[in-house]
Amino acid sequence: MNKERMDVTGYDRRALGIDSPMYDYYAQKIIEKTGITSGLCVDAGAGGGYLGLALAKITDLAFIFLDQSEKMLERAELNIANAGLKKRARTLHADVHKIPLTNESVDLVISRGSIPFWAAPGTALEEFYRILAPGGMVYVGTGRGTPEVKKQVEAKREEMGERPHDWEKEHHHMRGIHCDYDGIESKINITNFKLNRGEDGSWIHMWK
Ligand SMILES: C[S@@+](CC[C@H](N)C(=O)[O-])C[C@H]1O[C@@H](n2cnc3c(N)ncnc32)[C@H](O)[C@@H]1O
Repeated sequence: MNKERMDVTGYDRRALGIDSPMYDYYAQKIIEKTGITSGLCVDAGAGGGYLGLALAKITDLAFIFLDQSEKMLERAELNIANAGLKKRARTLHADVHKIPLTNESVDLVISRGSIPFWAAPGTALEEFYRILAPGGMVYVGTGRGTPEVKKQVEAKREEMGERPHDWEKEHHHMRGIHCDYDGIESKINITNFKLNRGEDGSWIHMWK
């Protein structure tokens, strides 16, 4: 992600505060879609670890929060400590395109909001598949929850006296940053692949 554009402190505050219903929603959805609640999970492009932290609350999974930004990983370390998860979670400074983990060593790979920043999403998905153990699954994508979740986030925003979300500013920040989900499948050599598009965004599900 473009580091100059990323306000790490502001992002962290929102993710842990008003946006928390959104991470809780996707954590629940990941369990519904994968059924994986134990073993090792990699949160790819984890930022401060928000999706993994939400999933940790409702599973026995251990976590690796992988990100290429050292600043984000510093936040993740703090968030891990504050959540009392030091025994279950660690950070990994790495690029999704070349992951320093061995073949078939991970049970679940998750990611939210990071794919649009990857130079070659197909390469990253093949890396995820390489590190996935037999029986493992990948659930990665983008979105801000269902309309119902967005309402909950807005309610939290009002409750906390925050200013309304500046969609125009977000649109401006994200200009030129997008993911061609429809074109991904043809670029990879993985048949256990499903693209789910719905009111909660675009999500890729893969299994081994
Ligand atoms: C918009 S943030 C999303 C953070 C978190 N997943 C969430 O849902 O809030 C995107 C994150 O992806 C990370 N990222 C972008 N490209 C990456 C890459 N090639 N390898 C690893 N991390 C990457 C950025 O550093 C940033 O922390």
